[in-house]
Amino acid sequence: MKANNIETLYTKEQIESRIKELGQQISEDYKDCEDLVLVGILKGSFVFFADLIRHIDKNISCEFMGISSYGSDTKSSGIVQITSDLTSSIKGKDVLIVEDIVDSGLSMDYLRKNFATREPNSVKICSLLNKQENRTSQVDVDYIGFEIPDLFVIGYGLDVAGLYRNLPYIGIYNQDEDR
Ligand code: IMP
Ligand code: MG
Repeated sequence: MKANNIETLYTKEQIESRIKELGQQISEDYKDCEDLVLVGILKGSFVFFADLIRHIDKNISCEFMGISSYGSDTKSSGIVQITSDLTSSIKGKDVLIVEDIVDSGLSMDYLRKNFATREPNSVKICSLLNKQENRTSQVDVDYIGFEIPDLFVIGYGLDVAGLYRNLPYIGIYNQDEDR
């Protein structure tokens, strides 16, 4: 799938090799941890999540949480909503949140606060992409695949109005040329 309104930012190969490194680092950092739960944030992180867990060399459990902060536009609505919750308790567990992209930081700030009330042993965040310059809520991202400027990107799980999640690469979406 190629279109003139999409410019490749990271190829399939670049993504693959960076995820391998992230997986190795996570395996090393959590090597003594007994109860590691990876929480994939739906929908955007499902592709990244599936690739990342296959590079983690230890026993983990997988959970998912649905969060929505965008409408059908490319700007955040500013309202975070839980659309589906975890299916088991994270009390006493080490939690690694797996996100597609941290932009304003609103979603991760909300989730960190929400998770804190559930008494986990630890909570860290792993995001494939980080748009630091757009931050309005202070959030530290512990593992970052790629730092990107303030561009709207799609593919590899990321969407615009629900589309393009199935692109095997990450592309810059140019709204003006999509008419
Ligand atoms: P935040 O709450 O502003 O940090 O937004 C995080 C969420 O907004 C991400 O999980 C994405 O779902 C969405 N988002 C932010 N930037 C982009 C982008 O460039 N492309 C697609 N989705 C994005
Ligand atoms: Mg998301």
